[in-house]
Amino acid sequence: MAEAPEASSGQDLQVRRFGASDVELLAAFFGEVAQDPASDRFHPHPFTAEAARRIAEHQGRDLYLGQFLDGQLVGYGMLRGWDEGYETPSLGIYLSARVRGQGLAKALMEHLHRQARQNGADRIRLKVYKDNLRAVTLYQGLGYVFVAEEGEQSVGLLDLISQGGGL
Ligand SMILES: CC(C)(COP(=O)(O)OP(=O)(O)OC[C@H]1O[C@@H](n2cnc3c(N)ncnc32)[C@H](O)[C@@H]1OP(=O)(O)O)[C@@H](O)C(=O)NCCC(=O)NCCS
Repeated sequence: MAEAPEASSGQDLQVRRFGASDVELLAAFFGEVAQDPASDRFHPHPFTAEAARRIAEHQGRDLYLGQFLDGQLVGYGMLRGWDEGYETPSLGIYLSARVRGQGLAKALMEHLHRQARQNGADRIRLKVYKDNLRAVTLYQGLGYVFVAEEGEQSVGLLDLISQGGGL
């Protein structure tokens, strides 16, 4: 699942699934997320040490991926829903504040799109707060169409068949 560098020239960019040996690494990253004011717009699950253990040791179809820049964990992405029996996975993404604005989000999104396709998905779903303009712009640029509203959030869908989404 590792990926060759593709965003920042001269820097090594990798994406891989977490494993049991990543519990402490992920717990430290989740600690950073929990302290980040931006996490009020990203709360797919608690960002606790317990959640880090559950996710690092997760064995199901759902995917929890780390993005590593020069060996440092800087991004977190997930595709969830398969374990519960849904055909269409829900995507979530978080980048460390120190690496935002460098194109890494697009690279991680495109990796998640490829993973979804390889796992048989025809579509991806996500939810985003309407005022999270960076995320909304990112998703629109990748081809997501906003199809519904749920309170303060929009529901976006990406059709992996009809448009590439970076595939
Ligand atoms: C959402 C997130 C992953 C985006 O990553 P990023 O590196 O900050 O994104 P970028 O800087 O590449 O910006 C994405 C797009 O928004 C645009 N943008 C940046 N700031 C913007 C603003 N204030 N208003 C509108 N658009 C903006 C960028 O120009 C870029 O568009 P482009 O690709 O057409 O140039 C990252 O900000 C993050 O992790 N935020 C906290 C967690 C979160 O909100 N996750 C999403 C939950 S749905």
